[in-house]
This record gives sequence, C-alpha cells and structure tokens, in this order.
Amino acid sequence: MAKVKSKWVCVECGYESAGYLGKCPECLSWGSITEEIQSAAKPCTRDDFKPELLHEITLDDQIRIPTGIGEFDRILGGGLVQGSLTLLAGEPGIGKSTILLQLCQCARSLYVSAEESANQIKLRAERLKINSDNLYIYPQTCMENIKAQIEELKPQIVVIDSIQAIYSQTVSSSAGSVSQIRECCNILMNIAKTKNITVLVIGHITKDGAIAGPKVLEHMVDTVISFEGDKYKSYRMLRSMKNRFGATHEVGIFEMGVNGLTQVNNPNELFLNARSNAQVPGSAIIVSNEGTRPLLVEIQALVGTTPYPTPRRVANGVDTARVHQILAVLEKRIGLNLSKQDVYVNVTGGIDVTEPCADLGIALAVATCARDVVVDSQTVILGEIGLSGEIHPVSNIEKRLNEAVCAGFKKAIIPHGNEVTGPKIEVIKVKRLMDAISACLNKGENV
Ligand code: TYD
Ligand code: MG
Repeated sequence: MAKVKSKWVCVECGYESAGYLGKCPECLSWGSITEEIQSAAKPCTRDDFKPELLHEITLDDQIRIPTGIGEFDRILGGGLVQGSLTLLAGEPGIGKSTILLQLCQCARSLYVSAEESANQIKLRAERLKINSDNLYIYPQTCMENIKAQIEELKPQIVVIDSIQAIYSQTVSSSAGSVSQIRECCNILMNIAKTKNITVLVIGHITKDGAIAGPKVLEHMVDTVISFEGDKYKSYRMLRSMKNRFGATHEVGIFEMGVNGLTQVNNPNELFLNARSNAQVPGSAIIVSNEGTRPLLVEIQALVGTTPYPTPRRVANGVDTARVHQILAVLEKRIGLNLSKQDVYVNVTGGIDVTEPCADLGIALAVATCARDVVVDSQTVILGEIGLSGEIHPVSNIEKRLNEAVCAGFKKAIIPHGNEVTGPKIEVIKVKRLMDAISACLNKGENV
C-alpha cells in the first residue's frame, strides 16, 4: 500500500512544516498548525479553457434569483447570482439553518443536511410554514453522493448545512479538518461554476468569532455573509463581508419569532425603543452608516469613582482603543479628569459601531455623565474627533440627517466642515469638541 504523505500547515498564514509545532514560527499564533494529508496529483479539469483577449470576451447576462426575502436580496446586491458560491457564517443557534430553509422556497432547491435528520428538518419546516413542491431534503455527509444527487436532480439552489460536517472520499482526514473543508469547497465551487447552480454553504464560527476552517475558504467563495446578533435577544443581523457581485458591509435586520425569521422594516424602533423617555445623563444618539443604510443608535456611558487602583475602561459595541483615545482627548483638551473614574461605554441593542463618526457621541455621553447633565433627547450627534480636539467631517451627512428627521429628531450637532442643504432639521455646526459640549447641553450648562 502506498505510504500516506502528510504535511503540517498553519491555518492562519499557510506556513508549512514537516512536523507538529505548538506555535507557528511565521505568524506566531498558537495551536494553528494542523495536519494535512497530501492526496495524489489530480488531473487538470479546466484544460478546455484558453487565454482570451479582454475585448473579445462576451459577457453573459448575470441572472439573479430573487430570494423572496427582501433584506437578504438587498445585502446580496439584488438577489442570488446564478452559479455563485456563498458562505453564511454564524454562531450556533443564531438561525443559519432557519433562514436558508426559508430561502429554499424561492426556487427548485436541494437542502443537504449533514447535521440534522429529515424528520428534524420537516419539524422546522412545519414551524416555519414552508410550503414548497420543489424543495428536496437530503440528509447526507459524503460529498461524492451529494454531487451525484445534484447531477440527477438539477436544482437551481443547493444548500450545504454545514461545510464542517461533510467529507470527501478523496481525502483521508476526518470531516471538519482543514484539508476536508478545502477539498469539499473546491468540489462545490466546481459544481457552481460548471453547472451554473447557486450554492449556499453554512459555516461555523470559532469561539473567538472567526470562521472555522482555513482562511482560504473565505478567499474561494464569491460572497461571505455573517449572521450576527445576540442569541438571547430576538433580533439578528446579516452582514455581507465580501461580495464579488455587489457592495460589502450592507446589513439586513431580522427578528427571530415563533414562526422563524421576519424582516425588520424599521430597525430604528428596535434600537431606540428601549430608551426611556426620562432623560438620563450619559446618553447620546448617533446615526451610524451600516453599508448604505443609516441606523440610529444610542450610546450610553457610565462614569463613577473607581474602587480599584487602576480605573476600569469597558467598551461594548465600540472599539476599546477608540474609547481610550477619546478619553485622552477629553482629559487633555477639555480638562475632564477621569484618572480616578471607571468608564463604561455601551451601544444599546447589541449592535457593533465601527465608524469614527461615533466619536463625538461617545465623548458627549462620557462628558455629560461625568458632569451629571443630560444631552437633549431630540438631538443627534455626528462627528469624528481628532487628537487636538477638532471635529472632522463625516461621510453621507444628508442621508444620516434624513434618517434622523424621519425618526422625529429636531436638532443635529454636526462637524463644521460638512455642508447640509436638504434635511429639515436644526443644524449646529461645531469646530471643536468644546463647542459641541456647550451646544448639546439642555439648558446651556457648562461641563
Ligand atoms: P437554527 O436555525 O437551528 O440555528 P443554527 O443553524 O444557526 O445553529 O436556529 C436555532 C434557534 O432558533 C433555536 O434556538 C430556536 C430558534 N427558533 C425560533 O425561535 N423560532 C423558529 O421558528 C425556529 C425555526 C427556530
Ligand atoms: Mg443549523
């Protein structure tokens, strides 16, 4: 029997070594080196392709399949592209199987369930009131059998639930290993491109939030969608991380109910409705741009004397390093002494805000809480803070302000450098952090 050759490969950076290592010498990550069995050389499958001159290539019409779920279509840039391979990644229990089963109603589909039995899928389908004559459920884990069924049934859409649970006979390692995931993804990519079938693959997420499996999985697929949200709350967010056929970072917002996932048409209600009407110090409303959609989000801060030798800085939903920078600017430029104060910053609704446009909102939430005064609840705050306390302009200002007007806000504090003509809202332009602090306070108190 031929000797099985194996090599050890780093999942993070692709470094190869002859034996096991606890730490990768290239990227210095621990526990990332996994064994890969080397399979025999494969025959070339694409030898019918020849180089063509760019201007001689004729474009086929890109056919899109509407999924019947508006928010899903929007993040994909207008429906599923025929012959594309999409990866949907998310934590266990977030609703990946649910949304893809709902999506399968839109065309002739094959749902390959490698984790659950046909009975379990049937139970879920009843709960979701799925009514389709064109949906095949196939509990299977072997990639070669799946390929054979795809060739026989000729579906328009194939769902693989999940890539970590299927295996190919050509690779000897177990399902979920780096080489299995890579091989199965390769086969699925080939099916999608050669047979013009739309393939959706579910991928698990590791405990630190990365997509389980090799990074190459994300490189290979056409679209990567992440499914986020708090498992213990009912709303979920779909976000496109990579999209070869449309814009990235678009978000779609859903709510998980007893009958599956439903679209949320007015997400601002979801993020702002927890806000109490009584005005509390340490709260500021910003308009964050998620993809092309502006979202109103509340930033809360809590500042209090610390019982610890080193004060605590806790940030939920915003980058901790960014909060540290804003606190440093508040100390240096405004003279707000926070060296003996614990500072907690939280974005309500569990959403992550990564935009620098949130800086001014964070600064005002912290400053008003420290001085026990309130920001006017009818005011939205936009602006990026520079290290000398200057306020930089933000992108898409009109769109953000229009959203604030729709949600009933009356006043906006915006950077001096932004020009606004359209939205019917009282605008206060500020050059420096100090101007913003004086402008936003309810009765003009000084911080
Ligand atoms: P599921 O799609 O199985 O998650 P994943 O495939 O990402 O692991 O969804 C699991 C959760 O969703 C489970 O905790 C139950 C809940 N759920 C509902 O609340 N309502 C529903 O109609 C369905 C089908 C699931
Ligand atoms: Mg599942």
